[in-house]
Amino acid sequence: MSEAVEALPFTRDEEFLVAQAVTAAERAYCPYSQFPVGAAVESEIGITTGGNIENASYGLAICAERVALFRAVAQGAKRFTRIAVACIKAEQDAPFGSRMPCGACRQVIAELMPATAVVLVAGVGAYRVSDLLPHAFQLADTPFLNP
Ligand code: THU
Repeated sequence: MSEAVEALPFTRDEEFLVAQAVTAAERAYCPYSQFPVGAAVESEIGITTGGNIENASYGLAICAERVALFRAVAQGAKRFTRIAVACIKAEQDAPFGSRMPCGACRQVIAELMPATAVVLVAGVGAYRVSDLLPHAFQLADTPFLNP
C-alpha cells in the first residue's frame, strides 16, 4: 500500500465531504453485512452521495462508492474532483484496510475520476486515485472519462 498523500486531520473542506459520506452511510441498506459504508463525490454538479445497497441474493450488493459515482454520472456529472468514503462501523482497532475502497470500486474510480484526484478515506487519510490503483484496466479504444 502506498503512502497516504496527507496525514489526518483533513481540512475543513475535506471534513465537510467526509461528513456527507457519513450521512450517506447512515442511509445504507446493509441488513446482511451490517457494515454500512457511505461515499460522497464532488463534481461540477455538486456533491452526490451513496450508501451500499445489499440484496438477499448476496452477489447483487453494490458498494457505496459505485452508488455515488453512478448516481452522479446519471445526473450528468463529467468532471469529478474528490470522493470521500466512510465505513462508519469499522472497529477502531481493525486493520486500516477495513476502511479502504474495494478493488472493484478502485477500478470504477480510476475510469471516472482524474488520476490525480483525491480519495478521502475517513479514519485513514487521503490518496491519489492513481496510487490506489496503478495500471488500472483500460481498453485501447475507450479513453477514461478524466485521465
Ligand atoms: N462495501 C462498500 O460499500 N464499499 C467498499 O469499498 C467495500 C465494501 C460494502 C459492500 C458490502 O455491502 C459491505 O460493505 C460489506 O462488505
